[in-house]
Amino acid sequence: MKLNKQDIYKALETITVPGEGKNMVESGALKNVMTFGDEVIVDITITNPTLQAKKKTEVDIMKTIHDIIYEKAKVTVNVKVDAPAKPTPNVIKGKSIPGIQNIVAIASGKGGVGKSTVTANLAVTLAKMGFKVGILDADIYGPSIPIMFDLETERPRAVTIDGKSKMKPVENYGVKVLSIGFFTQPDQAVVWRGPMASKALNQMIFDAAWGELDFMLIDLPPGTGDIHLSIMQALPLTGAVIVSTPQKVALADARKGVAMFQQDSINVPVLGIIENMAFFTPEELPNNKYYIFGKEGAKHLAEDLQVPFLGEIPLVQSIREAGDIGRPVALQTATPLEQAFEKLTQNVVQEVVRRNDDLPPTEAIKITTMAGCAAFKK
Ligand SMILES: Nc1ncnc2c1ncn2[C@@H]1O[C@H](COP(=O)(O)OP(=O)(O)OP(=O)(O)O)[C@@H](O)[C@H]1O
Ligand SMILES: [Mg+2]
Repeated sequence: MKLNKQDIYKALETITVPGEGKNMVESGALKNVMTFGDEVIVDITITNPTLQAKKKTEVDIMKTIHDIIYEKAKVTVNVKVDAPAKPTPNVIKGKSIPGIQNIVAIASGKGGVGKSTVTANLAVTLAKMGFKVGILDADIYGPSIPIMFDLETERPRAVTIDGKSKMKPVENYGVKVLSIGFFTQPDQAVVWRGPMASKALNQMIFDAAWGELDFMLIDLPPGTGDIHLSIMQALPLTGAVIVSTPQKVALADARKGVAMFQQDSINVPVLGIIENMAFFTPEELPNNKYYIFGKEGAKHLAEDLQVPFLGEIPLVQSIREAGDIGRPVALQTATPLEQAFEKLTQNVVQEVVRRNDDLPPTEAIKITTMAGCAAFKK
C-alpha cells in the first residue's frame, strides 16, 4: 500500500496541539511528513514542554493515521519541544541576590481573591516545565503557602554557606518555600508591625540558601500597605502579577494595586492581570458556566489599563479542595485545570521574557520616609 502525503496532512488537520487552539497543520506545529510505501514519518514541534503533552501528541498522530488513512501504516513520530525561551537574567543591581533571575510578586488589592492559590499553581507548573522555582510567602496576616504545599509541620533548617549560617527553604513538588508561617504558631494571632515584618522578610530573602532560581514568586498579603513597600524597598522586582475576580469591588482594588506598582516612585512593571473565579463550573457539568461574580471584569480592566490579560481560572471545587489538602490542583495531570494553569504560566513566562527584553532591570526603590511615599497618601 502506497500512502499519500496530502491525505495525511488532511487527516492531521483533525488534531489540536495541547495548549494551542488551532489544529497542528494550521498552527505550523507540523513540520514535515514523509511517506515510503506504507511507512510514514511525521516531524512535529510543540511548545508545551511536559512529557504528557509530548506523549499525547504522539499517540494522537498515530491513532489518526491508523483510523483515517490505513490501520497497518508504520508510523514514526518525531516530536521536538520548542519551549518558550528561558527568561534572560534579570540583572539585579543594589542589594543583589546571587542566583535569582526573576522575582515576580503576586498581588491583588482585595483579600481572598486567590493570590495564594494562583501562586501555588503557577509555581508547580513552572517546576513541571523545568524551571527552578521558589515561593516566598510574605503574607504576614495569613500565610497560607505552608498549608497549600502540605508543609505545615516543616521548619527550615540552618545550613552553613561560606562560613555563614543560612536558612534552607523547605521543598515540595519541586518548589522551594519559605513562609512567615514557619516562624509563628498556627493558632497565634500575629500582629506584626511594619519594621518587624520587614526584618523577617529581609532575613527570608537575604539570609536564606535559595540556591539558583529561575523564578522567585512572592505571595503578597492583600492590599497596598507597608509590607508591599518593604518588599519593593528590599527587592528589585522583575514584575508584578495582579489577581482579581470579575467582581466590581475586587476590580476597584485591583486597579489600586496596578496603580501602586506603576507609580513613578515605585515603577515595577505590571506583567498582567489574571481573572480568578472567572465562572463557576460544576464538575459533573463541565460545559456549564455560571458567571457568579460577573463576566470578564478583569479582562476589561486589563484592556482599560493597557496591561496584558494573562488568562482566566474558573471557580471549581477541586481547586479549593486541592489547596486545603496541600497538593495544588495543577499537579493533577490530564485535566482541563492543568491545561488552564499551563496556558496561564506560559503567558506569565512570555511576559517576563518580553519585560526583560524591553526594559532595564527594576531598581529597588529608596524610600526614606513613609510620608514621602504616594501609596500612603491614597
Ligand atoms: N478558582 C478557585 N476555585 C475554587 N476555590 C478557589 C479558587 N481560587 C481560590 N479559591 C479558594 O478561595 C479561598 C481564598 O483563596 P486564596 O487563599 O488563594 O486567596 P488570597 O487572595 O491569597 O487570600 P488572602 O488575601 O487572604 O491572602 C481559598 O479557600 C481557596 O482555596
Ligand atoms: Mg493569600
